[in-house]
Amino acid sequence: MSLHTKYPAIADLKARARKRIPHFVWEYLDSATGVEATQKRNRRSLDHVLLKPSILHGEFDPDLSTTFLGKEYPLPIGIAPVGMSGLVWPGAEQMLARTAAKEGIPYTLSTVASQLPEDVGPHAGDQGWFQLYPPRDPEIRKDILNRAKKSGFHTLVLTVDVPVASRRERQTRGGITNPPKLTPRLAMQAAQCPAWLNGIRQTGMPRLRLMESYSNIKTALPSTQHIGYLLRTSPDWDYLKWLRDHWDGPLIVKGVGNPDDAARLADEGVDAIWVSNHAGRQFDGSPATIDVLPSIRAATTLPIIFDSGIEGGLDILRAIALGADFVMLGRAFHYGLAALGEPGAAHVLDILRQDMISNMGQIGARNIAAIQQTRL
Ligand SMILES: Cc1cc2nc3c(=O)[nH]c(=O)nc-3n(C[C@H](O)[C@H](O)[C@H](O)COP(=O)(O)O)c2cc1C
Repeated sequence: MSLHTKYPAIADLKARARKRIPHFVWEYLDSATGVEATQKRNRRSLDHVLLKPSILHGEFDPDLSTTFLGKEYPLPIGIAPVGMSGLVWPGAEQMLARTAAKEGIPYTLSTVASQLPEDVGPHAGDQGWFQLYPPRDPEIRKDILNRAKKSGFHTLVLTVDVPVASRRERQTRGGITNPPKLTPRLAMQAAQCPAWLNGIRQTGMPRLRLMESYSNIKTALPSTQHIGYLLRTSPDWDYLKWLRDHWDGPLIVKGVGNPDDAARLADEGVDAIWVSNHAGRQFDGSPATIDVLPSIRAATTLPIIFDSGIEGGLDILRAIALGADFVMLGRAFHYGLAALGEPGAAHVLDILRQDMISNMGQIGARNIAAIQQTRL
């Protein structure tokens, strides 16, 4: 039976993933903050975006290819950064990097990944982007940028929608610790997930390895605190300028949700903006990203990446119709990995591809540019 027969939608992978990873890991991956209203709003608002059906176009094979920041891609999709990916599925970072290299799509490695850039970069080929949570110390900053570049990551993504830690009540209730430890309660959950546990036995319990490589600099840190938060600062416009001066490749700002910010970013020499509300994980009073996308599109000519709540190819068409140039997914690729291991990531991409093709047929869009005219 083909994967498409057994798992035709991302929802099928999500359901299987939930059974194959311990509950505390599921709560880490799938929860948002507050009462999770933003997470729900992302879905509801995407559902409200309607596209014009269009008939009598004859036979055609839609062309999904696109150019973004001067590079050709077979489709306008990439993998968003997810911290502690390797906790969700052991070895996730390398698996996703390999999938991205094979499929010709970007993979964004998080600052708080469980693997080092040096160990992941070679797997990503020329598809590696590096996401920065901004270190306070300029020497650490320079060193991280250097290490990312040397490891093959050519595009830098500065995440700006985490100025402070969010509360993520559901994740806290789940009992995850930092670094993750199998307490007796969590070990019982892990025992019910043999494939996950076997993987963890091979990789070791995931840790914030990049951050930990700087732990000697602040020896007085309380060991219970998340070292990622202790080393990072809340960036401002001067920080962005510094980064622009010190990174000679494409620079993207992630977590834009406001047209005024979008307009100003063009003056700062940024190459693209990433419209995101972090899938509702940071601020439960945030608008759905799809609702702010049209006003951000109107405010800037910069290329726009979109994420938060994408669950299928139709959602991708919706984002493009409202002004996005490229679309990223975080959780969906991890549902794929947790459901099926490494082939699951490629299957997620194939679901999205097939779903885009089917829906482009319904709206008579022969290529990505044509989708922009289909908003109802
Ligand atoms: C478990 C988890 C961890 C994440 N960690 C990071 C991170 O380290 N850096 C970052 O910029 N965004 C992070 N994000 C946000 C994603 O990059 C992305 O914006 C979001 O997941 C997109 O929504 P989606 O999961 O609905 O596709 C994380 C998201 C999740 C679900």
